[in-house]
Parts: sequence; C-alpha cells; structure tokens
Amino acid sequence: MKNILVTGANGQIGSELVDKLETMSGLENIVASDVNPPAKFSAAFENVDVTNKEQLQKTIEKYGIDTIFHLASILSVKGEENSDQAWNINMNGLKNVLDLAREFNIKIFWPSSIAVFGPNTPKNNTPQDTILDPYTMYGITKLSGEFLCHYYFIKFGIDVRSVRYPGIISNKTKPGGGTTDYAVDIFYGAVSKNEYTCFVGPKTRLPMMYMPDAIRAAIEIMKVDESKVPIHTSYNLAAISPSVEEIAFEIQKKIPDFNCYYDPDFRQRIADSWPQVIDDSRARTDWNWKHDYDLPSIVDDMLEKLAQKYHRIR
Ligand code: SER
Repeated sequence: MKNILVTGANGQIGSELVDKLETMSGLENIVASDVNPPAKFSAAFENVDVTNKEQLQKTIEKYGIDTIFHLASILSVKGEENSDQAWNINMNGLKNVLDLAREFNIKIFWPSSIAVFGPNTPKNNTPQDTILDPYTMYGITKLSGEFLCHYYFIKFGIDVRSVRYPGIISNKTKPGGGTTDYAVDIFYGAVSKNEYTCFVGPKTRLPMMYMPDAIRAAIEIMKVDESKVPIHTSYNLAAISPSVEEIAFEIQKKIPDFNCYYDPDFRQRIADSWPQVIDDSRARTDWNWKHDYDLPSIVDDMLEKLAQKYHRIR
C-alpha cells in the first residue's frame, strides 16, 4: 500500500477511511474520489463515477495507484427504490475496478455486507459458510460481487480482500439509504431533540459495529500477509448485536428524558431477513480480528461527539 485510491470517499465509511489513511505513515498518495462534489479533504480529490472505466483508469494512471478501497455502492433501501441503478453501480463499478486491477496490478479492498444473508440463513451464530439467499437487490449485488472477486482471484490472481460489514454506527457522515441507518439516526434524534421514531420495531436485533473498528478491519485485512486471507469471497465480521430497545435503554442511561417511539415500515421486512448474531471466528483466527467497542463505549463516544457537533454541553 503506497498510492491509495478510495472510491465513494464522501460516504459514511469513505469519509472516515480517508481521514485515517492520512494519519498513517509510509503512504505516498491518498486519493479520495466520489461521483459527488468533494467533501472536505486534505487528500487529493478526483471526481470519479465508478461506472465510467475511463475516468477510473485516468485516476489510476495519474497517481500510480497500487491499492483501491472500493467503497462506492448503493445501499439496501436506496437499492429497492432503484434496483437498476443499484445493479449498475454495484456490479459494473466492481467489475471495472477488478478489470483495472488486472491491468495495473492493484490490490483491492471491497466491502460485502450482512445483506448477502436472507430469510433462510440461520439467524444466530450465522456461520461463515451457510445459506445465502439475499432478499434485496443490494444483497444480490453483494453476493454476486463476492463471487466475482473470488473468480478474479482464481482466474487472474487478483488480490481482493473483503469483509461482510454489519450495520455501522458513526458520527461524521450519515449513512445514505441503508436499513441499519436507524442505529445512527437514533443518536442524532437523542442529541438534537430527545426523541426518535424508529422505522423498525423495538425487538429488532441486527449486527452492528462502531466506525473505528470498521476502519481498522479494512486496514488490517489489507496489511496482513496474503497467506492469512484464504477466504476469497468475504469474511464474516462482527462486534455487537443490540436490539433497538437495548440501544435506546443505553442512551437513556445518559439522557434520561430520551424517548424512542416505533413506527415500523417496509424496512422491517429487510431487517427481519438478516441475521441477528454473526459468527466471525474465521476472521478472528485467520487474521486476528478483534473488535474494541461494546455498546456502552459506543453510546458514550457517539453522544459526546454529537453533543460537540450540536454545541450542547452535557
Ligand atoms: N448498512 C447496510 C444497509 O443497511 C447493510 O450492509 O443497507
């Protein structure tokens, strides 16, 4: 890793990954790219639409890119609103990146998701190898993407590394159009107006992770020796699995007058199709994955950071 391109750099994960990469030593070029106008980066920024192979290629050539964190993607809820767009960006974007990786000998990180699982997947201790029957277009693109990465490894020796991210809780950039967004929105609601109305029910339990852990996972899996990453589809990755009411309860410990209301909509069905607790023992054994943040420490940090954002002293 020397000259790194991050696609989807304006997004929830991308914006924090770029910040983190910039603090790391030994890297020469960090290039943030996105189809939307630049967010605030001190890194170089290029407007890149990942479905446009030429644009991608020009950026790769300009900076001598040897590593891509390919994050540009449409999430589950947005993907249901426009499934053609989700297929186009998620699949053709990934294929462009993989084809250019062949040509320019580039190492790739590409995130998969818990959305590859579906209604018939075991919900608890979901194994690495299990039934994969995604219910959303997003999940279908992630599952197809996993096998595309596997294919490029077998056929062309491309070094692609991947994790199946759970819902990610963070405070810098809001997620855009996912089912797990409630686990971020609840904190914004709590800090800005002491209330939140959740679009899934109180007992809904999904795997979640705090952003610093998610970023560390991406960097760690990219840094280890290739021999430690024998899974070439994607690794199960887990941290915590709270229900919504458990998150709300933990917030109430800090903001006693916080109220969480529930008004489930179509997103409940997507949430119900995903596992509750993931078995990520392969990641823990193969490349020493370990999460740092539990629910209380996430709640503490989220409330502190968001209070600063809203200029409220607690
Ligand atoms: N956070 C994603 C979503 O909700 C799941 O990977 O769509």
